[in-house]
Amino acid sequence: MEKNNAPILKALEEFVKNPTYQFHIPGHTHGGGVCKRFKDLVGDKVLNLDTTDEFDNLGTLTPSTGAIKEAEILASQAFGARRTFFLLNGSTIGNIAIAMGLTKKGQKVIVNRNCHRSVMTGLIASGAEPLWVIPQKLSEWGLWGNVNPEDIEKLLKENEDVALVWITNPTYEGVVSDIEQIAKICKRYSVPLAVDEAHGCLWNFNDELPPSSLSLGADVVVNSLHKTGGSLAQSSMLHIGKNSKINEDFIEKSLMLLHTTTPSILLLASLDAARYHLSSIEGKNQIKNAIQNAKFLRNFIDELPNLHSLKPNSQYQTDITKIFIKADGISGKRLEAILEYDFNIEVESASDVGLLILSNIGNSRSDFEYLAKCLETISQTDYTGKVYEERTLHMPMLIPEIKMNLQDAFYSEKEVISKSECVGRIAGEIVAQCPPGIAILVPGEIITEAHLPYMNECETIEVLK
Ligand SMILES: Cc1ncc(COP(=O)(O)O)c(C=O)c1O
Repeated sequence: MEKNNAPILKALEEFVKNPTYQFHIPGHTHGGGVCKRFKDLVGDKVLNLDTTDEFDNLGTLTPSTGAIKEAEILASQAFGARRTFFLLNGSTIGNIAIAMGLTKKGQKVIVNRNCHRSVMTGLIASGAEPLWVIPQKLSEWGLWGNVNPEDIEKLLKENEDVALVWITNPTYEGVVSDIEQIAKICKRYSVPLAVDEAHGCLWNFNDELPPSSLSLGADVVVNSLHKTGGSLAQSSMLHIGKNSKINEDFIEKSLMLLHTTTPSILLLASLDAARYHLSSIEGKNQIKNAIQNAKFLRNFIDELPNLHSLKPNSQYQTDITKIFIKADGISGKRLEAILEYDFNIEVESASDVGLLILSNIGNSRSDFEYLAKCLETISQTDYTGKVYEERTLHMPMLIPEIKMNLQDAFYSEKEVISKSECVGRIAGEIVAQCPPGIAILVPGEIITEAHLPYMNECETIEVLK
């Protein structure tokens, strides 16, 4: 197969060049049936390209055939996988398919408690029993840190019937665990390793970024290409490791249960285009620029006496393009509000302690020069007495008190009660603010006083009867 090919793009180009009289889904038929205001906003071209699989030699998604299959094969080569599946509905669907495909009711899964809520959803669907690993706490940053390989080994030693080890790497804020070591341990115990690498899809394309989990021996990995890889929102990939013993048919069958039967070709084409772009000289240069921009901002912050950025240390590595910063005397939420209201800057997210800035492949150096200048101004300004609208608090780092299995609790009889009455009750739903989608409560856990300050957005909560 031609290396530089982008098969879905090519098929779409042919589709546009050779229009047909269309008597099929989507019913807007090249935009003819679309509200004019929407059409004016998005343009004719987008609507003309909005089609689904099966038609016009575009191939099908589940099972993958034609141009979509070819694009998946090219992606597997680019990411160093044995097999790649294109995903719609983000890495969320990938995580649910991993749980449904690789774990069964009652089996144990070793998983970090700060995983994304989609991992919990997957475990609720499969009925597997999570054995939570509590990662390091980076208390002065208000963040979860790395997962210790020793903690994984201890749990594997103590439990014979573990079906899967499942690690989030990197964290949303860019903290990187020692996946190489964890993969070796998993191999020793013959337990497959899944890595939620939603935030690390650029890693295989630049040596200054951490090594990809696939290259370190993970069996199955999800990458949200839409997060940092340049594809459209919702589009992601799931990869199977080259030497993995897992049966990818189980994953494929789960994806067939979960995926829409009318996938958007635009989203799939954007995945094909992102893979093509990241593998090209131009794309690789953009990744280099993103790294240089991140270094520029980090160095600039180092010169400001009252601003700090999270850096790697002897315990953990970091992804340089994710810059978590904090300012002495100003909360992260306040810093976010100042940047937004005074300087028209929108950051990725903010917490009590600090905020997260992403150095993306689409950012220019001038974006970073502007941000640096604004941060310098802020660092020289006295904000005492100035009021900004600040949003809610960040995730707490609480140790869960588990009363019941996740799936059993989810399917138990429940009632909705006021937040003021919930202490001491057993949660019946996942409570997680997005971003980063890390749960403060999952079904089966006891609600304590410590949870309340972090439930600002809930007036009521579902609990077990
Ligand atoms: C660690 C992690 N995994 C998975 C997801 C879900 O990814 P997606 O938005 O692609 O469905 C997220 C989303 O924020 C995430 O942070």
